[in-house]
Amino acid sequence: MESIRRTKIVDIFKQLEFGSKVDVKGWVRTIRGNKYVNFIHLNDGSTIHNLQIVADAEKFGEEFFKPISTGACIHVQGKLVESQGKGQKAEIQAESIEVYGTADPVTYPLQKKGHSMEFLREIAYLRPRTNTFGAIYRIRHHMAYAIHKYFNDRGFFYFHTPIITASDAEGAGSMFQVTTLDLNNVPRTEDGQVNYSEDFFGSPTNLTVSGQLEGELGAMALGAIYTFGPTFRAENSNTPRHLAEFWMIEPEVAFYDIHDNMDLAEDFLKYLIRYALEHCKDDIEFLNEMFDKELIERLKFVIENDFVRLTYTEGVDILEKSGHKFEFPVYWGADLQSEHERYLVEKHFKRPVILTDYPKEIKSFYMKQNKDGKTVRGMDVLFPKIGEIIGGSEREADYDKLVQRTKELEMNTDPIWWYMETRKFGTAPHAGFGLGFERLVLFVTGMANIRDVIPFPRTPNNAEF
Ligand code: 4AD
Ligand code: MG
Repeated sequence: MESIRRTKIVDIFKQLEFGSKVDVKGWVRTIRGNKYVNFIHLNDGSTIHNLQIVADAEKFGEEFFKPISTGACIHVQGKLVESQGKGQKAEIQAESIEVYGTADPVTYPLQKKGHSMEFLREIAYLRPRTNTFGAIYRIRHHMAYAIHKYFNDRGFFYFHTPIITASDAEGAGSMFQVTTLDLNNVPRTEDGQVNYSEDFFGSPTNLTVSGQLEGELGAMALGAIYTFGPTFRAENSNTPRHLAEFWMIEPEVAFYDIHDNMDLAEDFLKYLIRYALEHCKDDIEFLNEMFDKELIERLKFVIENDFVRLTYTEGVDILEKSGHKFEFPVYWGADLQSEHERYLVEKHFKRPVILTDYPKEIKSFYMKQNKDGKTVRGMDVLFPKIGEIIGGSEREADYDKLVQRTKELEMNTDPIWWYMETRKFGTAPHAGFGLGFERLVLFVTGMANIRDVIPFPRTPNNAEF
């Protein structure tokens, strides 16, 4: 057969040049047949749709199809023709088939039948080959691209903040330590402490929990920046919404106050959801059909409605008066749990909510302090099914107030001396927020567990693959 170049299945369906010779490569999803003909459903990852290969049994011989089972990888050349069968527009009449790799039907774990999400997590090395995970990872890609496009189109600069840092940006203390010291033989100082001067960086270091502090430095020079990178939290929270390693997007803008920040967050989220509906139509329709019949409706609903904006104090008031029995008690000063957030969003307002002005005790040191002395200019965006999807704030730009707050919290500011200094040199109002990338992908895909929207999840007791 003459040499022709491989075409991706997604492009075959786009162009539909019936009668043309095509060359496709992919993995067998199913194969069935009889004495006369074999039907192979082939998927190459470029789309949710399989391409049907029709192969004449007599032409190839019965033995030929034995190694072609579910999971095998094959290379097919043939003629693209209009399909007579239901459910597909086109099929290939095979002229040649080459087997790249077989998949033993006895040991290949992904046979045709539906598998539980739990089982698929155990075989995360193969789950990208399922319809569901193919759809999720394609959507994840499109969301990452849309995030860069959104900011680039609006003059924000992608600012790379470090992965290894010496500071705890959130002051939450849930960090993964980074060290090259021999843990079986730790060097000690005279008073018995770990001697970090012998460690790689000469001081204690950890994986970043947020790029914000360095991001603020970027904003105070370039005006508007965003980060998009991995973040790490050693919280022992085994929930469907927490990962130990997740990706975060953190825009930071000079001269923004909290209202500008809320406008940005709302516009950004709506843009991303609109983008998904436009560019991931087939995959979202598949997930809507198979997993969550309300997915598309929910996505459209978020785009079409204004987010409700209210203060934490007003939110707590609503929760207290709701008469609803919560697992965790709710009172002014309590850190809101996912059940409280979802009550406000799903039961009370039935719309996304932005809560602002939280008690300073439950928020980080860098948030701008309100005149009441009790609350700070923090904001959380709360979504249906998810709870908190974004956390952010206007930042404390006043040096004295920032110092006073770190003292109240008995923070050691040595590792962030440079952050404190920026308040002395051309300080300015500024604000920003962090979007948890996997929480966004959870929302857009309608999945129920955050472990299913990142290819290789990292959670307590699990770093396999
Ligand atoms: O609310 P967080 O902790 O805020 C910050 O880190 C700020 N420095 C952001 C900023 O103002 N620049 O985290 C931000 C978002 C959360 O709203 C949530 O979506 C996500 O990050 N997130 C997690 N996602 C998955 N697993 C975890 N363990 C997460 N912790 C936070
Ligand atoms: Mg938060």
